[in-house]
Amino acid sequence: MKRTVKDLVNLKGKVVLLRVDFNVPIDKNGKILDLNRVNASLPTIKYLIEQEAKIVLMSHMGRPEGYEIRLSLWPISLILMQKLNTKVYFSNKATGFEVKERLHSMNNGEVLLLENVRFYEGETKCDMKFARELASIGDVFINDAFGCSHRKHATTYGIARLMPNAIGLLMEKEVNVLTQAMEEPKRPFVAVIGGAKVPYKIKILRRFIDQADTILIGGAMAYTFLVASGIAVGESITYLDSVDVARDVLNYAKEKGKKVLLPIDHIAVRKGDKKQKKFATDSLIEDMVGMDIGPKTVKLFSEEIMQAGQIVWNGPLGKYEDEDYREGTNKIAKAISLSKAYSVVGGGDSVSAVKASKNAGGVNFLSTGGGATLKFIEDGSLPCLEVIQEQIR
Ligand code: 3PG
Repeated sequence: MKRTVKDLVNLKGKVVLLRVDFNVPIDKNGKILDLNRVNASLPTIKYLIEQEAKIVLMSHMGRPEGYEIRLSLWPISLILMQKLNTKVYFSNKATGFEVKERLHSMNNGEVLLLENVRFYEGETKCDMKFARELASIGDVFINDAFGCSHRKHATTYGIARLMPNAIGLLMEKEVNVLTQAMEEPKRPFVAVIGGAKVPYKIKILRRFIDQADTILIGGAMAYTFLVASGIAVGESITYLDSVDVARDVLNYAKEKGKKVLLPIDHIAVRKGDKKQKKFATDSLIEDMVGMDIGPKTVKLFSEEIMQAGQIVWNGPLGKYEDEDYREGTNKIAKAISLSKAYSVVGGGDSVSAVKASKNAGGVNFLSTGGGATLKFIEDGSLPCLEVIQEQIR
C-alpha cells in the first residue's frame, strides 16, 4: 500500500507540492469543455486546506512546444476560486523568484496554481535540474495526477525521487477501484473495448481475456479482428501488421474458454463518396468503409451488458470524433448506465458518451485516466505510483 496524504502528519504551514491532472478538454479557442478532472482533484485540495498547508498545484495542459496562451492554466485558477473557500493565486511562472515571493506572502490554507509545467522543456524530459528547482520550494510532494502517472515526467516522477511523498485521494480511489475491478470482479464480468491502435491494445486484451468472462470488441480495431477471423471488411481501417497478433488473441480466448464478440453489422460509407452518405450493412464488401457498429451489434452487445455483474469499458465503438458516427458508442454508454452491473468507464470519449447519455449517475466510476487507465489495467500499477513511498505500518 502506498502512503496517502492522510498518513502525513503536521501539515500545518508546510508547503505541499500537489501534482494534479488539469489537462481538461478545450476547444480551439481555449474554452474549457469539461471540468471532470478539476472536480475530481478537489477532495485532496480541500483536505490540505483543512490541514492548513500551503498548497502549490502543478499540472500540464495539452502538448505545447514552449509558451502557448491557449494552454495557460490561468482560467483554471478562476474556476478554483469559485470552488474553494480560500484564496487561490496564480503564478505565470512555475519556478523562480516570483513563486518563492508569492509563497512567502501566502497564509496557511491558501492555494497557488503554477503555470502549465509543459511550457518548460525539462518537464517531459524528466530533467532532474527542473525537478530540483520545483522540489526546492516545497516540503512534501503529493501525486494526485492519476491521468498522467504513466508518464515519467519531472513533476510526476523526477520530483518524487527528491522529496518525502505520498499519493492523493483521487489516486487512491482510482487505484482501489481499478484493482478491485480487475482482481476481484463481480461476475459475469463483461469488458467492452473500443478505439483504434490494435498493437497498443493487445496486452490489455490478453489481461481482459484472463480476468473477464466476455469481451466485446468495437471501434476501429474491430476490423483487424474481423480480418483475423476471415471476415471481409471492404476498405475499413485495418492494421495488417497486427492481423496475426489479433488471431493469436482470438485463439488465446478460445483456449481459455472466454467469449469474444465482434461486430455483426456496421454503419458504413463508400470510399470516395464526397457526400459520405452513411448506411447500415451486415457485411463490408468492395469499397465500403466501416465507421460505427450497426443496430444489430448494439442489440447483441447491450444484451451482454444487461446480463453483466460488472462492466469495464474503455474506448469508443465507432469514429466518435466525428459527430455522424457517435450513435453506437452513445447507445452502448446508455446500456451501461442503465444496467444494474457495477460499472467502470475510462477514456475521454467513453466518459463523454456516458455524460451525454444523461444518466451518468448510473455508472459507478468514471476514471479520470485515458492512457493511464489502460496502462494500470495492463500492469496493475503505473511508474509514477511505483516511485511513491510505501505506507509505514
Ligand atoms: C491525458 O489526458 O491522458 C493525460 O493528461 C496525459 O496527457 P498526455 O497524453 O498529453 O501525456
